[in-house]
Amino acid sequence: MSEAMAVPTVARATATVDVAALVVEQLALSFGGNEVLRDVNVRLEAGEITGLIGPNGAGKTSFFNCLTGLYAPQRGSICFGGENVTRVPPTGRAARGFSRSFQHVALCPELTIAENVMIGLDREAAAGWLDAFLPLARGRAERARHRDMALAALARLGIEQVADSLPAQLPPGVLRLAEIARAIAGAPRVLLLDEPAAGLNSVETRDLANALKKLRGPDLVLVVVEHDMDLIMDVCDTIHVLNVGRLLASGSPAQIRANADVVRVYLGEEDE
Ligand SMILES: Nc1ncnc2c1ncn2[C@@H]1O[C@H](COP(=O)(O)OP(=O)(O)O)[C@@H](O)[C@H]1O
Ligand SMILES: [Mg+2]
Repeated sequence: MSEAMAVPTVARATATVDVAALVVEQLALSFGGNEVLRDVNVRLEAGEITGLIGPNGAGKTSFFNCLTGLYAPQRGSICFGGENVTRVPPTGRAARGFSRSFQHVALCPELTIAENVMIGLDREAAAGWLDAFLPLARGRAERARHRDMALAALARLGIEQVADSLPAQLPPGVLRLAEIARAIAGAPRVLLLDEPAAGLNSVETRDLANALKKLRGPDLVLVVVEHDMDLIMDVCDTIHVLNVGRLLASGSPAQIRANADVVRVYLGEEDE
């Protein structure tokens, strides 16, 4: 006699908590004998602004390069939205919504700000068989759509008025915001900003802080590498401290500020 079919009381495990987080486990990267990242374990949450700080050479940019697939770590894993993307190449990560800005301004001087912002969008545009038949009409429509997306990204950062200017005509603060506009134009789900305040004056830095706070969103993992401690303490929900490739501390701005190890190896040296 068979037992009555049991109806599972728990239909399905819901893993909503993990869905949008970027989870890095036991990440290790080295170049020759130089161990650049050692056993880095970190959970980068959507909906937060995460700060990543540490002295020069700590491995911050290398960590970003591992996240975007530019560098292949020797060990460890990177999972986003529950998917292991450790072996996914940079194009595949871009397709999954990974986006970044670079430590040094990398705008094309011959292109207007709007055109620079559109570069990222044009790159991901599909070139299907239809293009062979309708190259002009389709190309024109796509370009118009990309320009609208670029203008929307510039507007989110409050600099839509410079859309048709060339980079050489603009101050560093605006160029930094333009780079961030390029990084957000495609509606990323992971946004990595490498020293966005480098070279900015205090007014430009304040504008940047306001812009970053507006970018915070429930579906975005936003990570900022920065040396400007006031900016980091102001905008971040969680801060991770990297020191010679190892995670030294993680916590809220208040916890990081009060952490004796952090003060010793990093914050102290900032006051020199
Ligand atoms: N492509 C590379 N080849 C060799 N060494 C590298 C490479 N990229 C980074 N490194 C080394 O990794 C270490 C960390 O550099 P980096 O990630 O740029 O630090 P940070 O951004 O924290 O200043 C440095 O010692 C640097 O020389
Ligand atoms: Mg760096």
